[in-house]
Amino acid sequence: MDKLHKPDLKQARKRSKDDIQTKEYQHSEIINLGKGKKYLIQTHGCQANEADTEVLSGLLEEQAFIKSNSIEETDVLIINTCAIRENAENKVFGELGRLKSYKKVNPDLIIAVAGCMPQEEDVVERILKKYQHVDIVFGTHNVNKFIEYLHYVMVEKKRLIEVYSKEGDIIENLPQARDHRFKAWVNIMFGCDEFCTYCIVPYTRGKERSRQKDYIIREVKALLNNGYKEITLLGQNVNSYGLDFKDSNYSFANLLEDLAKLDIPRIKFTTSHPKDFSDDIIEIVAKYDNIIPFIHLPVQSGSNTVLKKMNRKYTKEDYLTLVDKIYDKIPNISLTTDIIVGFPTETEEDFLETLDLVRKSKFEGAYTFVYSPRKGTPAASYENNISKEEAKSRLHRLNELVNEGYRRGNKRFEHETVKVLVEGPSKTKSDVLSGYTENNKLVNFKGDSSIIGEIVEVYIEEAKTWSLYGMIK
Ligand code: SAH
Ligand code: SF4
Ligand code: F3S
Repeated sequence: MDKLHKPDLKQARKRSKDDIQTKEYQHSEIINLGKGKKYLIQTHGCQANEADTEVLSGLLEEQAFIKSNSIEETDVLIINTCAIRENAENKVFGELGRLKSYKKVNPDLIIAVAGCMPQEEDVVERILKKYQHVDIVFGTHNVNKFIEYLHYVMVEKKRLIEVYSKEGDIIENLPQARDHRFKAWVNIMFGCDEFCTYCIVPYTRGKERSRQKDYIIREVKALLNNGYKEITLLGQNVNSYGLDFKDSNYSFANLLEDLAKLDIPRIKFTTSHPKDFSDDIIEIVAKYDNIIPFIHLPVQSGSNTVLKKMNRKYTKEDYLTLVDKIYDKIPNISLTTDIIVGFPTETEEDFLETLDLVRKSKFEGAYTFVYSPRKGTPAASYENNISKEEAKSRLHRLNELVNEGYRRGNKRFEHETVKVLVEGPSKTKSDVLSGYTENNKLVNFKGDSSIIGEIVEVYIEEAKTWSLYGMIK
């Protein structure tokens, strides 16, 4: 008999009043499950998934699994999925279809589907019916149990579907095999309580819960001791960190300041919600040089009608006031955003309001999307009268304006000296190195690979739309 525990979107919508407990990870009683075996994880979606992948890798490596580079030579394959838009899901279903033939050649290959897609009822039903070569399906709330699941499937030779719709405790001290040697993700909170009407995340990631500050500070200190140069604080809505603490007023601004004092060279954070971006946070970003001058501040739309229907809880004017305040206090800041076009009932006038806001906000980049209905969210039942062609045309018009912002953002560093954290050889030329500036601009320059992982000064000779070209000083 297969093991089955399926998701329930209705239950996922509920926010329980139960306190979240913090527990420490207990090492598995299973030992060396992966001796002589290899694993591979394909990660889709946002940094939350990338961070989960590092935990899954940590758990597997603790069991002596070795990371492999190809499906052909792997014993365990995990697809860590994203549910944010339909095309993200279609990619995963396409991949699952292709995997059928790999399983025929290698029947011992264990295929697991993880991440946000399994949190949706329809996805699990579809996998059960059409993708019977998938062995394990688990969600975002039980990553820590993966070894147990794998053991069950390896020993019992049966399928296991276990998805919880209610978040559990916060588990600290999970093993992590970090992908990078000098840049690290640090989760500071999980889940989201915003319920923007288009968004599936509050259903797939559960209610907002913040990690205790001591664990975060300890993690960052350890990263610093291990030579890490940059940390990115992660949360769906990072600036609401701490609002769920019942016995303390410790806030995101407090955490930022405590971490900035540790002298880690670069601190980033993502993603910020405009409604919670307090003056305190602006002040701390302005005050500390190691909090880099780069803020990703998703606006979604410039129309007050649309913002209201999206349940974003601010107006165009609120957003522009916030942006002005940020430019005033942190003149060197680079701002980027996320925008959705073609939200149900968005008119041409609404869209023109978005273009106007983009112009006024002087963004130096943006992720732009065509609205994609997600089953179970309120907006999925709104009448949608915008044709695909119209939505695409708006996306195209928006992108032209956004690209001007990328160009302008890069241009302001031409003939300036910038600090670059060197990441490695550039994507196109092996004798060229690349890295990012404090304003999150990509720089390519000639240099010796011995400086990978260092922060170096580079003189910018030329600014292009997508990158800067420079010379090491
Ligand atoms: N928590 C973050 C990021 C969420 S997902 C935030 O609030 O900003 C990243 C982006 O995907 C969102 O900012 C939004 O622009 C986009 N997005 C979310 N749901 C979408 C949907 N149903 N259709 C199209 N884009 C969507
Ligand atoms: Fe989704 Fe809104 Fe939460 Fe971001 S803040 S994850 S867009 S519900
Ligand atoms: Fe996708 Fe889940 Fe992140 S839906 S964007 S992977 S939180």
